[in-house]
Amino acid sequence: MSDAYRIMIVEDESLAGKVISDKLKSKHYDVALFRAGEEAFLHFKENPVDLVLLDYKLPGMSGEVLFEKIKELNPLAPVIFMTAYSSVEKAVKVLKMGAYDYLTKPLEMDELYHTIENALEKVTLIKENRLLRENLKEKFSFENYVFNSEKMQQAVNMALRAASSSANILITGESGAGKEVIANIVHYHSGRGEKKFIKVNLAALPESLIEAELFGAVKGAFTGAIPRVGKFEEADGGTIFLDEIGELSPDMQVKLLRVLQDREITRLGSNEPVKIDIRLITATNADLSRLIREKRFREDLYFRLNVINVELPPLRERKGDIPLLVDYFIKKFAAREKKAIESISREALNALVKYHYPGNIRELENIIERAVILARGNVLVFKDLPVFISQGEDIENGSQQELEEEGLTLPRILELTEKRVIMKALKKYEYNRSRVARALGISESGLRYKIQMLQIPIPNE
Ligand SMILES: Nc1ncnc2c1ncn2[C@@H]1O[C@H](COP(=O)(O)OP(=O)(O)OP(=O)(O)O)[C@@H](O)[C@H]1O
Ligand SMILES: [Mg+2]
Repeated sequence: MSDAYRIMIVEDESLAGKVISDKLKSKHYDVALFRAGEEAFLHFKENPVDLVLLDYKLPGMSGEVLFEKIKELNPLAPVIFMTAYSSVEKAVKVLKMGAYDYLTKPLEMDELYHTIENALEKVTLIKENRLLRENLKEKFSFENYVFNSEKMQQAVNMALRAASSSANILITGESGAGKEVIANIVHYHSGRGEKKFIKVNLAALPESLIEAELFGAVKGAFTGAIPRVGKFEEADGGTIFLDEIGELSPDMQVKLLRVLQDREITRLGSNEPVKIDIRLITATNADLSRLIREKRFREDLYFRLNVINVELPPLRERKGDIPLLVDYFIKKFAAREKKAIESISREALNALVKYHYPGNIRELENIIERAVILARGNVLVFKDLPVFISQGEDIENGSQQELEEEGLTLPRILELTEKRVIMKALKKYEYNRSRVARALGISESGLRYKIQMLQIPIPNE
């Protein structure tokens, strides 16, 4: 088997060596057995070896000396010591020297398999991470922007091509998919990159304030009006980004359309139009064609906004980006938390790749942030992930019995059940939190707390 892991065993007692060798072969490892340090070292120099099982007490070249020589040639190769006498001092000594682990003879086979698997998983991950990073350098990578998938490649190419034109751009995609980041990329790669980039989140503004916010107002325009410059004027010469454009009222849609046609705005309460030179980027996670069919969004405005459409695929449709993003977020949060976390176990990564991410990249980012904060070792493991990330398929829909069969502990089942109930209630009451809290018989702040702790994704947040 050519792709099997290669294990080198150095054991002077031939019977013991043979037993271990046979057992490991039956586990499909590629095994090379040596009875003396000298010949083992020759083999190690000439052949690829993934892991070394080393007897501490060898005739001739000692285990310790061989260990030093091995580490000189390949510092990453995991070496597991075996010894007949268990002594704490010896164990501490070899671990300090950089051995991966220390096992006492007679070997417990299960313990041996387990130790070997862990060690191999660790080296493989180190190698994979390096490869990932090298590939990444070749691919297109902004400092804070990570991707690898074909679909994202296309979206980014589209954004970059559009950047150099002055066309209006509509960015569509689910919540947390990265629309705002794309808007930034467009601005900073356009001829306007040195000029202002003004962002307005239309969903966050009360209807009554939007007009003054966008177009400005003169003194006395309405009761209590203070003179102000609107966002369009502020962005003059640069880019304005209108987020959540699907939220715009019919009245404001007409006004925006006029601005785009005339390339001028009029401050509230004034009748002197002001010429403006802006590049407009809009974004939405709503289905605008549906809103148009339902007559909630003007088609003529839509055509003006959607000269170029950059569509961001949801994360679940570009799972190839997940390992890179995980790696990127681990570094980001490990640095912030001052923790020496470098990687993630294969089991945890697999679970993350399987998950469906209703909250897209923002959700993945939150998951890793939480895991980095919780992690005790320097590798993120499965139990550092939130309960709703299951190893199997969609655990959120399983019954309690199924959850028990998954081997989950009771506290985890409790969390999961609670999460499910809250999610159902949120959907039922269309995310109206005071109604949900009332229906569940808890306080609103209690609900907020649970939403946060259980990492319940909320659309549009
Ligand atoms: N390719 C990426 N690489 C690294 N981080 C990313 C990437 N895409 C998005 N992010 C991060 O994910 C988070 C969500 O992205 P962003 O705010 O752009 O999403 P959005 O689509 O605008 O979401 P919403 O619809 O909720 O406003 C941000 O913290 C952003 O920095
Ligand atoms: Mg956004």
